[in-house]
Amino acid sequence: MGAHTLDRAAVQAATARCACIGRAAVEVHERVGSTNDRALELARGGAGEGALVVAAAQEAGRGRLGRRWASPPGGLYLSLALRPDEAMLRRLPVTLLGGLAVLEGVEAALMAAGRPGDAADLALKWPNDVHLAGRKLAGVLGELSHDAQGPLLVLGLGINVETAPDELPGELRPIATTLGGPPPSRAEVLSELLPRFEALYQAVRQGGGAEVLARASARMPVLGRRVRVRLAERTIEGLAAGLNATGALLVALADGRQEVVVAGDVEEVGQP
Ligand code: BTN
Repeated sequence: MGAHTLDRAAVQAATARCACIGRAAVEVHERVGSTNDRALELARGGAGEGALVVAAAQEAGRGRLGRRWASPPGGLYLSLALRPDEAMLRRLPVTLLGGLAVLEGVEAALMAAGRPGDAADLALKWPNDVHLAGRKLAGVLGELSHDAQGPLLVLGLGINVETAPDELPGELRPIATTLGGPPPSRAEVLSELLPRFEALYQAVRQGGGAEVLARASARMPVLGRRVRVRLAERTIEGLAAGLNATGALLVALADGRQEVVVAGDVEEVGQP
């Protein structure tokens, strides 16, 4: 495999470790606008749950909150078309499962590559970013729509795997990072990540949210620390006390009240 090509056979080998992912459709692109857009098109065209789009680079990668997602060659960019039912959507955000699967998949790939020190530096930053040594390594974007079959969730994952650090836009360099490999390669990360995501997704679909939530919470070092949270209209400060049963962040305020944060940007401001 060339430095910046993502081999179709490798993607298929990764999906062979899954029961559902990749059965409906697999697309591998050298370059695409956004894998989320392409997965949505596939699902709207009739592809079933688990349709997978992987790209080696994106021209119009999207991040959360309308931001752009820089997608230079070397990163791993993928989207899954999913059909969670309404009960599952109320249980836990599928994006949280995406973040946990990325963390655990990257961790396994780093361990296999003989990089336990880097594996130990991985963390989840609420709600679903994956950080390496305090800088952003990966992001998750869930886009929910509805059609005649019910909810359609396109889950997009972007991971800076083989990305050279100087390929990251200058303004991101202080806050973002890459694995800087290989090893591990994008194919190795993908083959660790997909079956893990599928197992988490099936566990939550079958009602196993509490165990998954405990696993995710255990990887969020911010819990128990003081945070500043930028909400849509205001900013709050307090103690990140934990996650509630649906994955929202509980922030204990100085006046004794507790805020339930469903969406916001969290920044640590020191120890309690
Ligand atoms: C974030 O803002 O942290 C989320 C970033 C999600 C990026 C991924 S890359 C694959 C998929 N396609 C996109 O356009 N975005 C997501």
